[in-house]
Amino acid sequence: MSHSVLFVCLGNICRSPLAEAALRLECASSELNVVIDSAGTGDWHVGQPPDERAQAAAIRNGVEIGHFRARQVTAADFHDFDHIIALDNQNLRDLTAMRPAKAAAKLSLLFDHVAGRTGEDVADPYYGGEDDFDQTWAEVTEAARMIRQRLEAS
Ligand code: 4NP
Repeated sequence: MSHSVLFVCLGNICRSPLAEAALRLECASSELNVVIDSAGTGDWHVGQPPDERAQAAAIRNGVEIGHFRARQVTAADFHDFDHIIALDNQNLRDLTAMRPAKAAAKLSLLFDHVAGRTGEDVADPYYGGEDDFDQTWAEVTEAARMIRQRLEAS
């Protein structure tokens, strides 16, 4: 059984690259066959590497993400991925609005995968500091663990 998961935030330079990295790390030690990617609803940062502070947070947790490049989510993604996971409610609304009628992808909010945090946003650390990026890492890592377990059970 193969799976595919796309994480989507606004810029694809802070939160969703960290979610992608966290799930890659989580799945590295499992038997899962899963394609993992990330994208942004916006196009401002297309082609750019993750924010330096996101790269630093990833490195503090043992993962190198400097080779990631931002891209914008496309209609084709709704056919190419089984799961599209939004980092916040605005991202989820934007994705819902652009979702093609016959698309197979299941749309969800990242925190809907974490017991007790249903409906919450992963706060945007873009205007924050190092601590905010560490908090983002902790949040996406918690979700990644739950997502891996769900994929393994499906
Ligand atoms: P992200 O953070 O959505 O977590 O990648 C942001 C990055 C850039 C901008 C906003 C949020 N921006 O406005 O450029």
